[in-house]
Amino acid sequence: MRNHKIAVIAGDGIGQEVVPAAIECLERIALIHSLNLEFTYFGWGSDYYGRHGRMMPVDGLEQLAQHDAIFLGAVGSPAVPDAESLWGLLIPIRREFQQYINLRPVKTLDGVKSPLANKEPIDILIVRENNEGEYSEVGGRAYRGLPHETAVQETIFTRLGVSRAAHYAASLASSRKGHLTSATKSNGIIHTMPFWDEVVEETTRLYPDVTLTSELVDALAAHLVLKPWTFDVIVASNLLGDILSDLGSSVTGSIGVAPSANLNPEGDFPSLFEPVHGSAPDIAGKGLANPVGQMWSGAMMLQHLGHPEAAEHLQMAFESALREGLGTRDVGGPSSTSEFTAAVLAAIDVIDEIAATTASRPAAAPASS
Ligand code: NAI
Ligand code: MG
Repeated sequence: MRNHKIAVIAGDGIGQEVVPAAIECLERIALIHSLNLEFTYFGWGSDYYGRHGRMMPVDGLEQLAQHDAIFLGAVGSPAVPDAESLWGLLIPIRREFQQYINLRPVKTLDGVKSPLANKEPIDILIVRENNEGEYSEVGGRAYRGLPHETAVQETIFTRLGVSRAAHYAASLASSRKGHLTSATKSNGIIHTMPFWDEVVEETTRLYPDVTLTSELVDALAAHLVLKPWTFDVIVASNLLGDILSDLGSSVTGSIGVAPSANLNPEGDFPSLFEPVHGSAPDIAGKGLANPVGQMWSGAMMLQHLGHPEAAEHLQMAFESALREGLGTRDVGGPSSTSEFTAAVLAAIDVIDEIAATTASRPAAAPASS
């Protein structure tokens, strides 16, 4: 039996609802596929902040480093400034563990109503650079409270950072349709963005089967609404990738279904799996949260841990529950979080029974000639 140590941070708001829902499904999948998923729960987040004045303990990263993967819900609460909650937990994890790729699939699912009139199937992978760019600590404030008060925030792009994101994205594109789109804004941001363009272009040249299109992000945003089915892989900086992935998930139906993987591709550190959405304080505690983004992130975690069949089983199960029209309210369905989870658990068992019957059925006799 394969053993994996998984650190769980359910966090705030609906994180407390969607994480247990996804773990129920992961446990059922683990049983069927003979995986030993050992979950260790960390009660960190905004409540912890209220008690201790920080989002996680001083040695939080050392504790997490003992695990094979991190499964996170969401952090953020109206009671804690967002900059504190993000920079006190998620950003240190992404940076210290060199999770420099944030992979965010955007895909149409049957049973999820898209707001678009034209419904060609959408299947995009967004590769967001996750360690540098616009999310930088370099900058400051001066002359606080005076009329000439000033704020400066420096964007930082490095050759290493841009090229490894571009390599990852180009190699993904090469295994798919071979179309890579790079989000830029080099007409307005005249130092960092032309540098981004150059490094992405140089890197992509090493993949002769990949065609690169560099697209200004404002036009790209419009394109993502008007013809999202024409994209294959999109590579974007930290900020642009963040915005485009919320847009992409909304175009396919709901931010509640969107998953993400924060990857350290070398495996030197644990990678982190979390839905794209936040803690959704407006619906927290009401049983309305869609757990699909969290479940799908769990499937990405199984894939990363080397269990593609288990990952596919989980994915088929939530897709089947959605297809039957049993989704939560945000996707136009009738179910609460727990009703939907029960439907996914049932689908996991049905898929398992079908697989067992197919495997035990004698092979068809060869046709006589
Ligand atoms: P949000 O993603 O939490 O919510 C945006 C809208 O989508 C809300 O109307 C919400 O009800 C809806 N929504 C989100 N997830 C849903 C789900 N699973 N099912 C059904 N509806 C869903 O973004 P918002 O409101 O900007 O941020 C709320 C808090 O979350 C803030 O404190 C923010 O900083 C934090 N946040 C945390 C993230 C993380 O932990 N990675 C990511 C984004 C925001
Ligand atoms: Mg976001």
